[in-house]
Amino acid sequence: MAKIIAVANQKGGTSKSTTCRNLATTLKNRGHKVLVIDGDNQANLTDCFGIVSPEKLDMTLYSLMERVILEEDLPKKEAYIITRENIDIIPASILLSDIEIKLVAAMSREYVLKTIIDEIKEDYDFILIDTMPSLGLMTLNVLATCDTVLIPATPEYLSAKGLELLLRTVFKIKKRINKGVEFEGILLTMFEERTNLAQEMLKLIKESYGSDIRVFNTKIPKTVKVGEANAKSMSIIDYMPTSKASIAYEKFTNELIYGEMMINEKK
Ligand SMILES: Nc1ncnc2c1ncn2[C@@H]1O[C@H](COP(=O)(O)OP(=O)(O)OP(=O)(O)O)[C@@H](O)[C@H]1O
Ligand SMILES: [Mg+2]
Repeated sequence: MAKIIAVANQKGGTSKSTTCRNLATTLKNRGHKVLVIDGDNQANLTDCFGIVSPEKLDMTLYSLMERVILEEDLPKKEAYIITRENIDIIPASILLSDIEIKLVAAMSREYVLKTIIDEIKEDYDFILIDTMPSLGLMTLNVLATCDTVLIPATPEYLSAKGLELLLRTVFKIKKRINKGVEFEGILLTMFEERTNLAQEMLKLIKESYGSDIRVFNTKIPKTVKVGEANAKSMSIIDYMPTSKASIAYEKFTNELIYGEMMINEKK
């Protein structure tokens, strides 16, 4: 049975899609069966896997969710899942922008995505779901079906402050919609170790949230190589395994799977 991880932060540009992309690769490289779901109409994650013009695909997350809303049967998995580098993908396209309106009028509107995932989750070890930078109904659907929420955050004041709203939303979801949901942790991304701001924000985040949520020891450094890998639709691990961001994503994956002990032992 898969562990379902939502990658969420309603602030834009905190490395959600990049983290999904690279975590999918590091988990797959460790022998896990991974499914990624693009829950963002910007379709950045879809693009990061080299799936071009997803609006021309017969099936994307939008069409699947539309079927659930219309109470139609879902097609066989083979009809909608795309596989790249041994990672299964449910892509998104710009069409997903319409889903919010459709969801408003839907029955059990928080559970539409869950209906899709329930049919296939037995086949995977990990399901990673990328979310859009908003806490609308689409993101609530993701939070309603996930086991844990991974929060990539950049070391900026507004990013740190913005976490409050996300945490409150997750607590509400836990109370009413998805009792089992837990925080996976806060992952600092685009981190520049030597800057004062980064250190101050790390302290602020640990002080403000560290008692409720783990803050990963591993931070993902800022490097142009990440953008280059994304532009080539490659993981940073395949694009440049020696890059400090590749090493950081590997360490972060160990920390995510095995916890802090393992990471300290490996240092
Ligand atoms: N560690 C990093 N170092 C440098 N650039 C990065 C890093 N991580 C991500 N980026 C770049 O920052 C930009 C935003 O990253 P990404 O798209 O992953 O963020 P996001 O949180 O998914 O954004 P959105 O909220 O729009 O969905 C992209 O151009 C990406 O290539
Ligand atoms: Mg994104």
